[in-house]
Amino acid sequence: TTKATRYKVKDITLAEWGRREMQLAEAEMPGLMALREEYGASQPLKGARIAGCLHMTIQTAILIETLTALGAEVTWSSCNIFSTQDQAAAAIAATGVPVFAWKGLTEEEFDWCIEQTLFFGEGENRKPLNMILDDGGDLTNMVLDRYPELVAGIGGISEETTTGVHRLYERLKNGTLPLPCINVNDSVTKSKFDNKYGCRESCVDAIRRATDVMMAGKVAVVGGYGDVGKGSAASLRGAGARVIVTEVDPICALQAAMDGFEVKKMVDAVKEADIIVTATGNKDILTSKHFLSMKDKAIVCNIGHFDNEIDMAWLNGTYGSSKVEIKPQVDLYTLENNQQVLVLAEGRLVNLGCATGHPSFVMSSSFTNQVLAQLELYTNRDAYKNEVYILPMHLDEKVARLHLAKLGIELEELSKEQADYIGVTPEGPYKPTYYRY
Ligand code: NAI
Repeated sequence: TTKATRYKVKDITLAEWGRREMQLAEAEMPGLMALREEYGASQPLKGARIAGCLHMTIQTAILIETLTALGAEVTWSSCNIFSTQDQAAAAIAATGVPVFAWKGLTEEEFDWCIEQTLFFGEGENRKPLNMILDDGGDLTNMVLDRYPELVAGIGGISEETTTGVHRLYERLKNGTLPLPCINVNDSVTKSKFDNKYGCRESCVDAIRRATDVMMAGKVAVVGGYGDVGKGSAASLRGAGARVIVTEVDPICALQAAMDGFEVKKMVDAVKEADIIVTATGNKDILTSKHFLSMKDKAIVCNIGHFDNEIDMAWLNGTYGSSKVEIKPQVDLYTLENNQQVLVLAEGRLVNLGCATGHPSFVMSSSFTNQVLAQLELYTNRDAYKNEVYILPMHLDEKVARLHLAKLGIELEELSKEQADYIGVTPEGPYKPTYYRY
């Protein structure tokens, strides 16, 4: 038998290292391992050709092997130019999965890598993808905008992140959504865990790995107090920084204040900031006027999906010639006022550019939702219209349940009388869909 050999990674000899890290990760990803146990024999994804575009990390390698364990064929690219862990990409390529990802892609290589994942097999066995698994919507956009002829053969899209989900709802609103989609991000066991508790670990991790700066006592500003902002602010506070939050939404601003953070406008906050992290999923959060009032050697980074939260185009256009690379993904710029700023990961999401993303355990929760979404869309396609869906509450609770034992959590059980009293069944779901957690 010949395994597929089509792949492009940095160095295939890193595979063994990647595999050893994957073995450690498996022990931290009980949700994915439970799905392998539950569905491995019945192969429900047999016939699925899933093209995935999601940070090619060790955790994603466990997701990929869960999809293949359930019968799917998979091709993979990374959804960010800096987020690949080369040992993870190598370990996956070594198993015969066509993976096109390495750390430090150019924009052209980024597109090329995604494009390689659209077709499976060679020669007369060449077939197009029939499922999309995306993080941020770049694969989705490529297929829908540049390969519309492939859409008819595709069962659906599962989308990982806030920004990608936003793009899908926009298409739905404009009448240009040609496929059923599952919004994985808004499973409770995704956004209220990965975005929040994930960033609570990976935000400071990234800044430390990049700069080794002392956090305690410093002033840190977090732009946006959604799920990622809440996690990032907690991360910085946990490291001893004094944290200021900026917001546009009065509810989130009030939450930040009640959590004990100062809430100010960015123009004022940057003046006292040692560290600035954008977490809005919006654009132009840090622009020329902010940069020119920053303190000397302020550390600037973004943990949202795209690099337009910080006006990198302006920074590079105006001060690109002053840029000095301290090390990969850590650049020092000198501004006209002779102040310097340290920019991490070229303004792209810092926890994946300067560190290794979120820890395995929280990604297990996210990716268990991903696999359930792929299962739903592939095996139950007729139940879905060309709209954006969220997984039902009982599946959300199932994902959480699969992660309890690892933490030694023991649940109370409802008696029939108690369940009746609060209007649920003893087995759940325990909350109505309008409950906000
Ligand atoms: P969210 O919608 O929960 O939070 C964003 C917040 O930013 C909102 O509260 C909004 O009011 C606020 N905001 C918008 N414009 C603003 C402005 N001009 N100034 C101040 N605040 C503003 O979204 P979530 O889930 O927190 O995601 C944020 C971004 O992070 C998205 O791009 C998402 O895709 C990405 N993400 C990154 C992760 C990572 O590991 N780096 C993990 C999960 C999501």
